[in-house]
Amino acid sequence: MDTHVVILAAGKGTRMKSARSKVLHRVAGRPMIEHVLAAAESLKPRTTTIVVGHQAESLKKALAGRPGLTFVVQEPQLGTAHALQTTESALRGQAGTLLLLSGDVPLLTANTLRTLLDTHTGAGAAATVVTCVVDAPHGYGRIVRGSAESGEGIARIVEEKDATPGERQICEINSGIYAFALEGLFDAVRSIASNNAQNEYYLPDLVEIFRRQGRVVETVTVPNPNEIRGINSRIELAAVSRIVRENKNAELMAAGVTLEDPATAYIDGEVTIGPDTIVHPGVSIEGLTTIGAGCEIHSGVRIVNSQIGDRVQVFNHCVITDSAVADDVNVGPFAHLRNHADVRNRARVGNFVELKKTVLGAGSKSMHLAYLGDAIIGDRVNIGAGTITCNYDGVNKNTTTIEDEAFIGSDSQLIAPVTIGKGAYVGSGATIRENVPEGALAVSAGKQRNIDGWVATKVKSRQAQAERQQAAVGSRKSEA
Ligand code: UD1
Ligand code: CA
Repeated sequence: MDTHVVILAAGKGTRMKSARSKVLHRVAGRPMIEHVLAAAESLKPRTTTIVVGHQAESLKKALAGRPGLTFVVQEPQLGTAHALQTTESALRGQAGTLLLLSGDVPLLTANTLRTLLDTHTGAGAAATVVTCVVDAPHGYGRIVRGSAESGEGIARIVEEKDATPGERQICEINSGIYAFALEGLFDAVRSIASNNAQNEYYLPDLVEIFRRQGRVVETVTVPNPNEIRGINSRIELAAVSRIVRENKNAELMAAGVTLEDPATAYIDGEVTIGPDTIVHPGVSIEGLTTIGAGCEIHSGVRIVNSQIGDRVQVFNHCVITDSAVADDVNVGPFAHLRNHADVRNRARVGNFVELKKTVLGAGSKSMHLAYLGDAIIGDRVNIGAGTITCNYDGVNKNTTTIEDEAFIGSDSQLIAPVTIGKGAYVGSGATIRENVPEGALAVSAGKQRNIDGWVATKVKSRQAQAERQQAAVGSRKSEA
């Protein structure tokens, strides 16, 4: 039987106090709606429809890279039932089960969705509601169950604002996640009225409508309330992010990674880390990053979309983005690797070194204060302190090539495009504008000149000046 997914995301998200669509706010580094889409995709739905309204254009743009999504615009937003109704034409002619998800409930697992589908189809239900028993039901719709004769089945759902004081005592809540049989669904949705406390069309009213028609309504109760937590405010956003991070950290530690302080390890969901790697406090590892085994990532490091090999040491306060670092490399402290820096085995990148779109070959070293951009650096090369590749001529970015075993003296400028041949030396303080042949030494400064006795002359003239000044002050005082 076909599965169709509808995600509601048209609401204003007033309590976020944001100019940005609520479902684009990041939960543990990933837009809220991406979490929902990932869970939905695990069911291989035939169609996926997103109901948008507020900030519709920015939301569509943010999801443009994802194929197979249909957007329907709900304008104005008259409630969750009205939101579903706007998908009717998009789903015309489809059959099977409709899974209704909420863009602001991001922790729902693929497992629960699978259970929801199986329970729903197994019971031949018209609707199946995901519920949870919680300590603090405030704000949620409550599940009203029938009498013992009806087997304590669900009778209806009442919203907090419409509930009697007695109903507010109910601790079983509506998660806002449902499975519906498409058969007859939109006819039932059309019969929902808005005569309630919020003058909205409530989707949960379907429960009572189906029960009156004698159709089966089922529930699936999740044991973990965290899973169905909705996000309505920044405080909830932070709380849900923390839950996601805690889960990820627990997973990593179970797989043999040491997190010295899990509370300050900010590791995104898709990151992988090998065993016996140690992560110090205050580290961010983001996006599609992989880190090998036996590494040590020190405090203050941020790594984004990068591949780190085995036994790599990343010392304090490095930033590594969109780059690759091979096995047995040391980086930092205070190094910046970006835009496809490619550091090969056993290389060393020291403090205040920036690598941009640069290959640093196996065993090569750049230990202090350098800018290496658009460079191809061979193996066992030594880059002295203060070396700069002048890669930009104001119009184009040009390449610097440094072949194996070359030695670049401190404070050198290599004006690209330029090649330093295999094993060549560049003398300290050189400005290199022309290629250096293999095995040559390049120097560019003029011959050194020493001026004998210069210091003594300088000292004498300073003394004479001081004496003149003192004499001037003395004569002013005697005049006064
Ligand atoms: C809803 C449920 C409530 C449940 C809770 C779980 C209703 C009437 N109530 O309440 O029983 O306990 O979720 O989190 O459904 N949306 C639209 N268009 C609209 C209105 C809402 O797309 O016109 C979207 C929102 O963007 C959001 C979702 O529907 O993603 C839920 O809406 P929200 O206003 O947050 O409903 P709750 O009051 O939380
Ligand atoms: Ca909500």
